[in-house]
Amino acid sequence: MQEQTGREIQPADGRLGVLLVGLGAVSTTTIAGVESIRTGRKRPIGSLTQMNTIRLGKRTDDRVPLIKEFVPLADLDDLVFGAWDPIPDDAYESARVCGVLRSEDIEPIADFLKSIKPMPAVFDKKYVKKLDGTNVKSGESKYELGEQLRADIRRFKTDHDCARLVIVWCASTEIFLQPTQEHASLASFEQAMRDNADAIAPSMIYAWAALKEGVPFANGAPNLTVDMAAMLELARENRVPVCGKDFKTGQTLMKTILAPGLKTRMLGLNGWFSTNILGNRDGEVLDDPESFKTKEESKLGVLEHILQPEMYPDLYGNMYHKVRINYYPPRGDNKEGWDNLDIFGWMDYKMQIKIDFLCRDSILAAPIVLDLALFLDLAQRSGLHGIQEWLSFYFKSPQVAPGLYPEHDIFIQHWKLKNTLRWLVGEEQITHLGVEYYD
Ligand SMILES: NC(=O)c1ccc[n+]([C@@H]2O[C@H](COP(=O)([O-])OP(=O)(O)OC[C@H]3O[C@@H](n4cnc5c(N)ncnc54)[C@H](O)[C@@H]3O)[C@@H](O)[C@H]2O)c1
Repeated sequence: MQEQTGREIQPADGRLGVLLVGLGAVSTTTIAGVESIRTGRKRPIGSLTQMNTIRLGKRTDDRVPLIKEFVPLADLDDLVFGAWDPIPDDAYESARVCGVLRSEDIEPIADFLKSIKPMPAVFDKKYVKKLDGTNVKSGESKYELGEQLRADIRRFKTDHDCARLVIVWCASTEIFLQPTQEHASLASFEQAMRDNADAIAPSMIYAWAALKEGVPFANGAPNLTVDMAAMLELARENRVPVCGKDFKTGQTLMKTILAPGLKTRMLGLNGWFSTNILGNRDGEVLDDPESFKTKEESKLGVLEHILQPEMYPDLYGNMYHKVRINYYPPRGDNKEGWDNLDIFGWMDYKMQIKIDFLCRDSILAAPIVLDLALFLDLAQRSGLHGIQEWLSFYFKSPQVAPGLYPEHDIFIQHWKLKNTLRWLVGEEQITHLGVEYYD
């Protein structure tokens, strides 16, 4: 029997503060997009919370509301944006420098963008080698820096009269770090903050401050950040929802769309080579081998988990997967990604698939930031806390509880997201048993 009572969901009354760590390409594209939608200039393309419908009951019932009419989400007019960045440019200046959006889309909302000035960041060049910043906090210890962030969060909430807050990490990718004993419990983490231990990266200090303040936190980069026992302990203690890691855009998005299709047809794969050129600041940061390593780990896991070579050794046992990222300034934010797939079919005959994706990373990432902010807020108002696996849909490297493997198949992720919404409201979950997948 399916539970059909639903959860008690607090209404989305009042303003929702969306604090973005990093005010670069993704953040400014998100903010400018939301303001352009609010002022009727643009449509929210790519956003499930704004455009997607959800089927309820039987196909013959003809009940297909928009998601935003089905669950109580914050209204776009109630969103207030804030940010931290070591570079002091306001959102207008940053949007111009990042070069994602055209002047004709920036100028009509220039005053609004200029009003968003970044708060001084917790930043340390040790963790993002290719970046320099002047708008940076100073403090005796990482613990003290964390307390300064907590004060920022509280001040923002009061100054902007927010009922609730969410925080999304949209800052640069940090160097590759693995969990150590400093991350194993909240007590050891906080001691390591006081000791200024190298194991504590800036992104973790933001996550700690958010969770201490009871603010939901999403991690859009592949850094460890909230993916550790200490943070989960804090999230549990303060009943805060979290999710990560690394927004699923560009080549990985294509991979998680295509790979499930090949597997569904039981077609074999010998190799998948992905390379791209991009020339924005993210590309420059990823030009550092230590930051690239963090990204590479995040991108490589996807195929293994979707194709399950251990279950299908004939088809995927000898798969060679390679991912390259090349910093190439002339392209700016307009990345070009090439994929070559060597596949094989009936009687082992070989075939190839080539993809040339002229994509715009931040255009793909911005609706993800918006959806995560709205869904995390919904999760908190619904009393959910800890890792929000139903939001895996948005991530390259979805965070899961220890011992579980992540689900990468975008269609399963989408199904899980919608079923979670149905479950929240007490609607019957759709299993597609005996029916086609039509919603
Ligand atoms: N664009 C995409 O499609 C996409 C997809 C997946 C993940 N990401 C990740 O999202 C992040 C943002 O991407 P972007 O294209 O906006 O990059 P960006 O370089 O344009 O912006 C990142 C901003 O973060 C700031 N920053 C760095 N360290 C900081 C800190 N400690 N505190 C506050 N701010 C800090 C930088 O100064 C910069 O302004 C990157 O980590 C990127 O890897 C982006």
